[in-house]
Amino acid sequence: MAIADKTSLQLPKENLEAQDFLPLLGTDYIELYVGNAKQAAYYYMSAWGFQPLAYAGLETGLKDKVSYVIQQGKIRLVLTSPLKSGGELNKHIDAHGDGVKAIALWVDDATKSYTETTERGAESYLKPYSLEDKDGEVKLSGIHTYGETVHIFVERSNYKGVFLPGYKAWNPFYKPAELGLKYVDHIVGNVGWNEMTKWCKFYEEVMGFAQLVSFDDKDISTDYTALMSKVMSNGNGRIKFPINEPADGRKKSQIEEYIEFYNGAGVQHMAMATDNIIETVSQLRNRGVEFLTVPAIYYEDVLDRVGEIDEDLEPLKELGILIDRDDEGYLLQIFTKPLLDRPTMFIEIIQRKGAKSFGKGNFKALFEAIEREQASRGTL
Ligand code: FE2
Repeated sequence: MAIADKTSLQLPKENLEAQDFLPLLGTDYIELYVGNAKQAAYYYMSAWGFQPLAYAGLETGLKDKVSYVIQQGKIRLVLTSPLKSGGELNKHIDAHGDGVKAIALWVDDATKSYTETTERGAESYLKPYSLEDKDGEVKLSGIHTYGETVHIFVERSNYKGVFLPGYKAWNPFYKPAELGLKYVDHIVGNVGWNEMTKWCKFYEEVMGFAQLVSFDDKDISTDYTALMSKVMSNGNGRIKFPINEPADGRKKSQIEEYIEFYNGAGVQHMAMATDNIIETVSQLRNRGVEFLTVPAIYYEDVLDRVGEIDEDLEPLKELGILIDRDDEGYLLQIFTKPLLDRPTMFIEIIQRKGAKSFGKGNFKALFEAIEREQASRGTL
């Protein structure tokens, strides 16, 4: 607990200087490459309360791909599928299944973001270029990160359109109610054996991030599974990227399982924040989203561990919501089962009540729950 208790967004001084070269205003969008974007959009709207925002496809002049853009609070997802065979999108989906391709970051200057990061060693994905339509101009650039995942830098201060040039507003009749999801709290990457340090260094040196919290495999292990994790954050704390790598356990860890089924490093989970986790999770459950369950015994002594909380324990227990505390407050969190047939990506719902950490005290309880799921798939 000692390390997590020191969690703080205060960054080392040298890093405050370092981060000046890449000011990030927030997460602009997250793009998933999926096998069937139309149905994926329906799923995230129906089950998760995302609202239709924009569309690009055959009707807007695209020949080989289609994208649906959906939004809830500040969270914007882009769901993209190929329309033909044999292209880059197809290869990505064949290799990884549905998954996150791009974590796009909102910046003031996409060209400078590209230059600063590529000069520091980032591999280029997209040279700076400009897109225009009647609503103005957006500049984009991009670099590679772990696995086949990329970061896109989005400069949109001169744009008034609904999303990006080339997209049209999408306003279908079907708009299920929102469920209170507000913003992306953090996005976690799983990388391979002994690769965590390399990718943390990448975020430090290439993007000017600093490490927030660290814990080693003694902190996060059960009888069977283990992992190591470090949390990297940008200078203003708006962007937080924990990086996990597998550690030796008696059986295959959940990170190894991910790497095997995703066929490499990639985004393990996105954490989405709510102001009322009990309400949000109740409704998600009513709409068919499945969550990991924790043993009832978790709730018997949880208040001894975390102290007093504002919520009644009963609904938290009923829904399987986990509780953890650090120096600055507490947090409530819950994790879905994988959203796909491959046991890869899932979503975390988090409500912060002062706490700035990531629920380390819950990891053991959580891993035991994940292992029960792995055992049922025969991959433990
Ligand atoms: Fe998380």
